[in-house]
Amino acid sequence: MERIPLLIDTDPGVDDALALLMAFADERHDLVGLTIAAGNVGLAHTVANALKLCEVAGRDDVPVFPGCAEPLLHAADDASYVHGRDGFGDTGYAPAARAAEAEHAALAILRLSHAHAGRLLLVALGPLTNLALALKLDPTLPQRVARCVVMGGAVTGHGNVTPSAEFNAWFDPEAADIVFRAFPRIELADWEAVVRHGLDQAQAARWMREAGTPRAAFYEAISRHTREWSQDRRGDRWHCADALAMALALAPEGAAPLAERPLSIELAHGLCRGATVVDWDRRVPGSPDNAAILMDYDQARFEALVRSALGAA
Ligand code: BDR
Ligand code: CA
Repeated sequence: MERIPLLIDTDPGVDDALALLMAFADERHDLVGLTIAAGNVGLAHTVANALKLCEVAGRDDVPVFPGCAEPLLHAADDASYVHGRDGFGDTGYAPAARAAEAEHAALAILRLSHAHAGRLLLVALGPLTNLALALKLDPTLPQRVARCVVMGGAVTGHGNVTPSAEFNAWFDPEAADIVFRAFPRIELADWEAVVRHGLDQAQAARWMREAGTPRAAFYEAISRHTREWSQDRRGDRWHCADALAMALALAPEGAAPLAERPLSIELAHGLCRGATVVDWDRRVPGSPDNAAILMDYDQARFEALVRSALGAA
């Protein structure tokens, strides 16, 4: 069977890293590149983290393309309080031997969309700045993308960074607005779906410790700070957002039927900036169903994907 070309835009980030390990482990997909955003921490760190994770996982064949260092219009605070100052738990790892590519992420997205036109699976795990820039350079991009899967938003307004907004949408709302207007159908794993699909903290830690693979040992170390932070605030279930989005991307058969609805982004500077407003009752005539929202994912399948990403039994 011909493998599906997969391009991931990401801001690693501890949960991004687990999602990337899932993609590395998947035999049905061919990972053609990582385009890197700023978000969880600054771009220098997210690029360094992507390169290091590839090295540890033996995937130096995957090109890494640095993208935008800032949101399109308005600066926003990072999430280093969750992921550590370097985004990977401040373990002091030795930098990867390999350097990133010279090509900008937005240009790489466009080039790879042509190279894999009609077949490309595009997965966005961070703020949508690179994707928005690519769309401004070439608005025909969505025509060449077979599926676009996004981690972001809070579809009934239960945010994780403000009362109403989720981090990725909140960090660069103008970019999210551009992307949600441009793509006819975005498969969305939002924060609220993530909360319904937590991983048991003790069990996840056991998978990492017992796997006996270099990637699991590395992941155990870089995720420790975040897992402890999460346990203190959110209890025994760890909400590993990007891993759930990656499960939807790699194994969509694990998802219950997606809820197709119109979704728009609130851009006003106030309490609701970055909110993903879903027209659940289709009150605005003529608004297309641009979001296919993940409501439920087979938890056992999700956990099996995480285990095999780590190399755990
Ligand atoms: C999202 O925000 C980031 O902190 C995570 O990496 C994830 O992509 C969750 O809201
Ligand atoms: Ca992320």
